[in-house]
Amino acid sequence: MQNYPQQKEWVRQQFTRTAAVFGDYAVASRVGEAEHLARLVRAGARDRAVDLACGPGTLALRFARHVLWICGFDLTPAILDRARRSAAAENLRNIDFALGDAQSLPFPDASLDLAVISYSLHHMPDPARVIAEMARIVKPGGRVGVLDIIVPEDSQAAALNNHIERLRDTSHTRTLPKSELASLFQAHALRILAAETQYHAHPFDHWMMVAGWKPGDAPYTQARRALEETIPDDAAGFHPRLSPAKPAMNAASAATAMPELYIDNTVLFLAGEKV
Ligand SMILES: C[S@@+](CC[C@H](N)C(=O)[O-])C[C@H]1O[C@@H](n2cnc3c(N)ncnc32)[C@H](O)[C@@H]1O
Repeated sequence: MQNYPQQKEWVRQQFTRTAAVFGDYAVASRVGEAEHLARLVRAGARDRAVDLACGPGTLALRFARHVLWICGFDLTPAILDRARRSAAAENLRNIDFALGDAQSLPFPDASLDLAVISYSLHHMPDPARVIAEMARIVKPGGRVGVLDIIVPEDSQAAALNNHIERLRDTSHTRTLPKSELASLFQAHALRILAAETQYHAHPFDHWMMVAGWKPGDAPYTQARRALEETIPDDAAGFHPRLSPAKPAMNAASAATAMPELYIDNTVLFLAGEKV
């Protein structure tokens, strides 16, 4: 990424603007995913852990129930404040928060047992560096967990997928394919414990809403058009499909009602152990 300060600014703008709407959604809807990742990385009562790019505390608030201590670490003050408030409201005493860049961590080598990151590598200019940092800060026998969207292995489909993601969110950098993430783990002496793929269906309108957009906004219109163009051949790997519009409330809304568009996010749970 050529202009990294600009990228940081886009991230802060996006997650300051959507701290409430995205925070409410992520914390409530990803409890099961957080618990599943905790099992895959064998989170345990003696572990000292970090949740990188923790956002509203999606992983950290759940992991705090399993580990000795966890630090939620993020670049955006507004969303970190939200995570702090949630931890206080839930009376969690073994959680701290710190502001910073996941590509350059303030933790010494081999100082933690667990490093996890969810739905955030695709906002990093250099995701390889983040994996390297995670591998650096965990002890031998420590675990690293990544939960993120992935793109198809085909490079054209991957490029189109990332293009659509950037229409939705200018702070999106690049979603990686599963093979690249697995190679990064291997390159940093992380023995793979689990690699599980899931498909998560989303109504397009909701997917846009949690990114801060509503029907009529330019990013909404552009992303919808780009996705609908891929319906015949699924050229970007989102599995887009239309379903009949909900019954109209009145004649005016009947005239403008659009069929509901659904997409799938392909999601990878990847857990590794430092050898
Ligand atoms: C899509 S949210 C994911 C939040 C949370 N991990 C979850 O799963 O719901 C992305 C988060 O990454 C953070 N972020 C983006 N780039 C970052 C960086 N270089 N270092 C630390 N945090 C970053 C943003 O501030 C935002 O909170």
